[in-house]
Amino acid sequence: MTSLMRHVLLWFSRNDWLRERLPRFRFMRRAVGRFMPGEDVDAALAAAVPLQEAGIGSMYTRLGEHLTHLDEAEGVAAHYLDVLDRIVASGIRGEISVKPTQLGLDLDPETTLRHVERIAARAAEVGSYMWIDMEGSAWCEATIRLYERLRETQPRTGVCLQSYLRRTAADVERLLPLGPSIRLVKGAYDEPASIAFRSRAEVDANFLAVAAALLRAGRDHPDRPVRLSLGTHDVGLIDRTAEHAAALGLGRDAFRVEMLFGIRVAEQYRLARDGFPVTTLIAYGTAWYPWYMRRLAERPANVLFALRQLVP
Ligand code: FDA
Repeated sequence: MTSLMRHVLLWFSRNDWLRERLPRFRFMRRAVGRFMPGEDVDAALAAAVPLQEAGIGSMYTRLGEHLTHLDEAEGVAAHYLDVLDRIVASGIRGEISVKPTQLGLDLDPETTLRHVERIAARAAEVGSYMWIDMEGSAWCEATIRLYERLRETQPRTGVCLQSYLRRTAADVERLLPLGPSIRLVKGAYDEPASIAFRSRAEVDANFLAVAAALLRAGRDHPDRPVRLSLGTHDVGLIDRTAEHAAALGLGRDAFRVEMLFGIRVAEQYRLARDGFPVTTLIAYGTAWYPWYMRRLAERPANVLFALRQLVP
């Protein structure tokens, strides 16, 4: 039943007719507020203040995928350059995370490369960091290629990999010579069994195996340091990765924990108190519909919460 709901919600996330109409309902806008402090970057930065006071870092992403005209990518790049300036001006210890198709990856990868190079250069200049999100599998190879080329000039950059994809272990081997920064997640899209693990047990086992491979590579090759982030709310997986790190002789700072704004908040504070580096990813923007549907799909019980917002 849960799996059926997940497929239905992921189908909703791709449906243009619903994308046009559902966000107009006030109850939907109230419901998304649980995961997003507001539609503009000022709301996102304000939400980071109490987190920073508790030693939790922040990362910002503007929602929206797949441009229709390549020219729009220029505006997106300018937006992120401005966000970096605002992060500095507000005294927040923040990073940014960009979606490659929002910068035109499915239209012209060369233009996307130029934009991410500019954004990453500014991020490095102001002491920040730029991450690249991983979208659906159709863009996986192009995203990894983008990261490989970006790393030729911009070291303060990382990329997201998804443990549900069968190819991910091989992608890690491919990226290791770069001394990569990897955000490991389970994966949020609807992918077929031919390319993705479908059972929770397999996705989790691959997550642990890939995390272990990255920790070991980082320990054994200090000349090409690996930076590992676990983008998950699965505290069991975080504990098991921490045990593995300890067995390798590594401390709690061997990896960073990243969670989304509004999800498992008490755990974010608890992990930070326990000495793990923790960062909260804060999303904002008006194009939140597909992203919010993916959040509902991750935990169909969230649908009840959304429906409760129908009651004023
Ligand atoms: P899992 O789904 O097993 O959840 C573990 C527990 O966390 C649940 O039992 C529940 O308590 C809680 N939980 C999880 N999701 C919840 C939700 N939506 N609402 C309420 N509670 C919830 N994906 C991707 O494909 N590309 C990307 O670039 C990214 N980037 C990214 C960055 C960061 C910082 C995070 C945390 C996640 C992503 N993701 C992502 C999403 C990721 O792939 C995955 O879909 C979600 O994190 C949910 O899976 P969990 O690992 O949290 O485990």
